[in-house]
Amino acid sequence: MTTSTPPSFSPGLEGVPIGESSLSLVEGQAGRLSYRGYSIEDITGPENTFEEIVALLYDGELPGASRIAAVDAELKAKRGLTPQQIEVVRMTAKMTHPMFALQAAAATLGPMDNDFEPKMATVEDRGMAAIAKMGHLVGALAQAFQDRPYDPPKPEESHAEMILRMITGQKPSALHLRVMNALLILQADHSAGNASTFTSRVVASTKAEPEAVLSSAIGALSGPAHGGANEQSLRLFETMGAPEGAKAKIEKMLEDHFRIPGFGHRVYHVKDPRSKVIQSLASEVIESGSRVSELYSIALTVEDVATERLGHRGLFPNVDLFSGCVFAAVGIPTDIFTPIFAASRTLGWMANMKEQWESGNRLFRPAQIYVGNPPPKDYIPRSARS
Ligand SMILES: CC(C)(COP(=O)(O)OP(=O)(O)OC[C@H]1O[C@@H](n2cnc3c(N)ncnc32)[C@H](O)[C@@H]1OP(=O)(O)O)[C@@H](O)C(=O)NCCC(=O)NCCS
Repeated sequence: MTTSTPPSFSPGLEGVPIGESSLSLVEGQAGRLSYRGYSIEDITGPENTFEEIVALLYDGELPGASRIAAVDAELKAKRGLTPQQIEVVRMTAKMTHPMFALQAAAATLGPMDNDFEPKMATVEDRGMAAIAKMGHLVGALAQAFQDRPYDPPKPEESHAEMILRMITGQKPSALHLRVMNALLILQADHSAGNASTFTSRVVASTKAEPEAVLSSAIGALSGPAHGGANEQSLRLFETMGAPEGAKAKIEKMLEDHFRIPGFGHRVYHVKDPRSKVIQSLASEVIESGSRVSELYSIALTVEDVATERLGHRGLFPNVDLFSGCVFAAVGIPTDIFTPIFAASRTLGWMANMKEQWESGNRLFRPAQIYVGNPPPKDYIPRSARS
């Protein structure tokens, strides 16, 4: 009898490559995130727009003015929704958590047939449409969630302006628009290994329609171990009352082994570089004396206490410890934080889908380690069972 060596198993697939990508790179020890080689700090400045980063991730290089204008025009041309799609998102926004409403609404972007023809032009076209429509969907979702009537995109609005104005009901200031662009850019991609992007690749590998890829990835993002942490961290800070009492409360939580949302990361064992960018935005946009500034001061206390307790184990703030405070400072309701993350990450999901098709797309079908009853087990008729 020959015995074969069982494959080794890495829980959570830690350290296991799931494919090749040239889109973004997460360097866990250096604490660096780059898109197509460009550090995130350099592409979230006052002049950078979401449209520019769509071109960067799709084309591989920083675009010139005419390419940025072309992406802007394409997103505007593709963002339209049918009355039925708007009705679905508005209806589900009143029934269920915004992330589930968004997941259902994203699926309605799909076609009547389910026979995807993966020509590269189609993959790119449907990917761009998904990016454009997701911003519109999140705006429509937020309006219904806040009991406001549907107020559609305006022709002149950029992607970031459309989303922010639809959510808040007010034309954003130049500062808020800049912050919104930076937030959308910052969350657009994070290597192919994060749970939602991996999901998008697994679903794409089955030759599913791009809209099925999108709605599946939204489901993966909704969990508190992934995108849902931004919402949870702000809710935690809200329960802490005045900033002065936060230190004792967070110390007690850590003693009780509470898992702090916005803290820790599978890959980063230093402070997440995105949280540094977010903190620089926070210093620009959070008004002193506001409740958000109190929440931000609580977030800083959480960082200090948790870093002191957990830093030696490689646990530090991730993007979600501070992002909620910045979302709140530009007027975004807490329940809409993760939907915005989804609108932003749609770029990464769709760019990863395209990259996977470009590289030949082989079906994901990993193995398992079976630990159940050794077969064949003798069958027991129902009448003989106790
Ligand atoms: C992101 C996260 C899921 C990564 O998890 P992971 O790499 O699988 O790490 P594990 O869940 O195996 O945790 C390893 C250890 O660190 C501890 N730990 C991890 N994150 C922690 C946190 N946020 N607060 C307190 N302890 C934490 C765990 O309790 C565990 O301790 P143990 O070995 O004594 O049991 C995890 O850090 C987490 O749950 N963070 C909070 C949610 C969050 O912010 N998610 C957004 C990520 S961008």
